Amino acid sequence: MGIEMNVERFANVRTPFYYYDTNILRQTLDAINAETKKHDNYFVHYAVKANANLKVLQVINEAGLGIDCVSGGEIEQVLKAGFPANKIVFAGVGKSDWEIELGLDKDIFCFNVESIPELEVINEIAASKGKVATICFRINPNVGAHTHAHITTGLAENKFGIAMEDMEKVIRLAQGMKNVQFKGLHFHIGSQILQMDDFIALANRVNELQDRLEEQGIQMEIINVGGGLGVDYEDPQGNPIPNFKDYFAVYEKYLKVRPRQTVHFELGRAVVAQCGALITKVNYVKQGSVKQFAIVDAGFTDLIRPALYDAHHRIINLSSNEAEETYDVVGPICESSDTFDKGILLPKTHRGDLLALLSAGAYGEIMASSYNCRRLPDGYTSEELN
Ligand code: LLP
Repeated sequence: MGIEMNVERFANVRTPFYYYDTNILRQTLDAINAETKKHDNYFVHYAVKANANLKVLQVINEAGLGIDCVSGGEIEQVLKAGFPANKIVFAGVGKSDWEIELGLDKDIFCFNVESIPELEVINEIAASKGKVATICFRINPNVGAHTHAHITTGLAENKFGIAMEDMEKVIRLAQGMKNVQFKGLHFHIGSQILQMDDFIALANRVNELQDRLEEQGIQMEIINVGGGLGVDYEDPQGNPIPNFKDYFAVYEKYLKVRPRQTVHFELGRAVVAQCGALITKVNYVKQGSVKQFAIVDAGFTDLIRPALYDAHHRIINLSSNEAEETYDVVGPICESSDTFDKGILLPKTHRGDLLALLSAGAYGEIMASSYNCRRLPDGYTSEELN
């Protein structure tokens, strides 16, 4: 039911590499479209920060999603993949001038603006080009999310967005500028969120804000609620498609959408996590004094999530079905944090076996680095390895 892998097809591929099952990706996109098509004013912008592999992007583009970018490099990559510029939203606390220029030159849909100094710079650069930039303000809603502290973003202490109390002021400021057009608000409370209550809290907060702004005569066309829907890292095979039904139902039920308003979503992880796996070869099986180690050729340079966030990726052995033994699965990098999992049961593992680290389609390949002068992993779709 989950990601499918045919190990024979992997025989001549250099490891470690990322493998993307386009069937799972397409099923995921179909599940999203099945929910959003119930509303003619819902638009999903895939958060390309989760995975910018060109072939993955092309499948997402075919499904008709828009895009959420956070850098000029991402804008260039999605244009290369064929996404129309008028479906790009561009967020980020520290946009450089060249990135703003690129967004203006390409006539992107919207800049999500995170501070007054940024607003002033966008207005200036747009004026120099004789353009008007469409903008939303990213508001820090001060809503906590039940997820890892490193990926919570919607609290007042986080660096993101504009504080709620400054909102009216910044909107008035924007309305007085000639080269920006204020269209709405943007929110994002965090990532890998599985409790729908967190999204309910956000929807309620958005409603309060809209009421408050309307009393001041401020109308909005765009409400962008960000991304954040989590996936099942513990049972990816049993549960490969995230719970889009409940996710969109929260907004349908709780968000009070005004006439002619559009609602925008920026899902990243939920779109791509479960279609991807990191395939790695076992270089050595080492008997330590108290433990048995499977030492693989992938390291945290290929998949940093376990080292950085204590994240858990299910590991399976694609080459062995012998009786299970207990292993720590570790990489070759000279740091103890280069450990993918500890004390897990795997079929008896040998040098040369292929292991798959599941749910690695999001924040995997894209966060790879070349620390230790290691090669970056390649990425292949199931179609390429057929
Ligand atoms: N919109 C904004 C403004 C964001 O900051 C993010 C993610 C998203 C959308 C997409 O969120 P998603 O739907 O993927 O949860 N590297 C971390 C995750 C960092 C998320 C950063 N922002 C990880 O590997 O868990």
